[in-house]
Amino acid sequence: MTEIANGNGDQTVVRRITCVGAGYVGGPTCAMIAYKSPQITVTVVDMNKERIDAWNSDSLPIFEPGLEDVVMKCRGTNLFFSTDVPEAIRSADLIFISVNTPTKMYGKGAGMAPDLKYVESVARSIAEHAQGPKIVVEKSTVPVKAAESILSILEDAQRRSNNNLTFQVLSNPEFLAEGTAMRDLASPDRVLIGGEDSEEGQRAVAALVNVYASWVPRDRILTTKTWSSELSKLVANAFLAQRISSINSVSAICEATGADVREVAKAVGCDERIGSNFLNASVGFGGSCFQKDVLSLVYLCESLHLDKVADYWNGVITINNWQRRRFADAIVSELFNTVAGKKIAIFGFAFKKSTGDTRESSAIHVSKHLMEEEARLAVYDPAVTEKQMRQELVMETSEKSVNKLVTVFSDPYEAAKDAHAIVILTEWEEFKTYDYARMYNAMSHPAAFFDGRLLFKRKDIEAIGFHFFGIGSAPSHLSEVGYIL
Ligand code: UDX
Ligand code: ADP
Repeated sequence: MTEIANGNGDQTVVRRITCVGAGYVGGPTCAMIAYKSPQITVTVVDMNKERIDAWNSDSLPIFEPGLEDVVMKCRGTNLFFSTDVPEAIRSADLIFISVNTPTKMYGKGAGMAPDLKYVESVARSIAEHAQGPKIVVEKSTVPVKAAESILSILEDAQRRSNNNLTFQVLSNPEFLAEGTAMRDLASPDRVLIGGEDSEEGQRAVAALVNVYASWVPRDRILTTKTWSSELSKLVANAFLAQRISSINSVSAICEATGADVREVAKAVGCDERIGSNFLNASVGFGGSCFQKDVLSLVYLCESLHLDKVADYWNGVITINNWQRRRFADAIVSELFNTVAGKKIAIFGFAFKKSTGDTRESSAIHVSKHLMEEEARLAVYDPAVTEKQMRQELVMETSEKSVNKLVTVFSDPYEAAKDAHAIVILTEWEEFKTYDYARMYNAMSHPAAFFDGRLLFKRKDIEAIGFHFFGIGSAPSHLSEVGYIL
């Protein structure tokens, strides 16, 4: 049995951290803590043996720039990956819960509320295996008051135990973005820690503050009430998603009028009060967080009978779905209203560049719409495996259609050969470096180019001979004369 090590006086010093959930959040976060705090032993556990084996191998389960370097420096020294959840719970002073909270697909709140069954199951494991005091930290994004549910499970164990169990539950949401996770973790805009006002609660908050204070300036570590912290994470993601839906709604106006959304975004973003980040119009946002968290906020508002607020945030999702559909419809309409049997090269399947993650990627939805029209898809992505692409598309369509309509390529030139169109769905830098004239010559003509990520200038692509459609910019005849109402 271990106890939280006591430092000077009343201060609680954390020496052993366990993280339950070795995913996109838990893995990189713990690697960074181990790297920055050699005095802390960090163990990351997961029930998925394949994932843990990969963390212990030369080929990590997550593609994240800079991660491998940090893991290789610490693994086996003060960073460990294991499937032994009970032992890791027993030996920890502080436990991060970093499991997935996907949108619930059944029962009450289906399609909107986050599914907390994995969080609850970890809370139950902690209640079962803890033998001493623990600080339990929710890292998973959870709706407000989840800490309360975790605490009631743990308090029940506390009441029934003879072992002097005590638990403090903190909220410490992670704000890292995939693709830049290591940079975000090394130099976060802020670290947010929510806890109870009680003396024990504040002691636990101070213990976690000290973990981050090894490398994060103290004025960037915010401490709040638990509920404020939980709600802030949902609201931060909702604000970011809202900016993308706002600029995407404007992209439709630009396409119809001859304005260019890049010029509008630049002009608008120059206002310091607005700022220039997250104003890139696109084929729609993806990823494991934005849609899930906005839906979770909408569900929360509905539960509170704040229907107007729910409608407001739901609009962010409505625009996002519409943008994906609008882009797919434009492809069909520009290819003479039929794509049936036509080969279409899809460049990019990940939800953003610098990651192999495909969760909620707009590429899945655009591909699905095109498959409904019987297009033959030739997909290329530098970081996503064929297995992963097929799994995602089978979930949205059927195995039969995927087998019939989808081919995955490891060479973009082969994917484009004989295709009627190239469709850019992820903003990978390498897409800017290709020889598109060479591709054009090997394609079926007339050849079209659809830029869903604003990677290219219309005039450069049209100069090669392509017919060009880009999000948020109108064809030349509209750009020149402007739109007359
Ligand atoms: C997001 C938040 O940024 C992060 O703080 C939070 O912890 C988790 O959710 P992530 O989903 O990893 O991070 O990626 P992000 O960079 O936010 O991009 C999300 C989606 O929005 C991607 O599909 C991206 O391509 C798209 N996007 C982003 C745009 O379409 N336009 C933009 O201007 C920015
Ligand atoms: P995120 O992007 O939030 O990190 P992931 O889905 O990548 O989410 O990772 C969550 C991880 O949590 C998965 O690897 C899953 O196997 C693990 N997990 C879920 N429930 C439990 C549990 N009860 N015990 C151990 N690991 C769990």
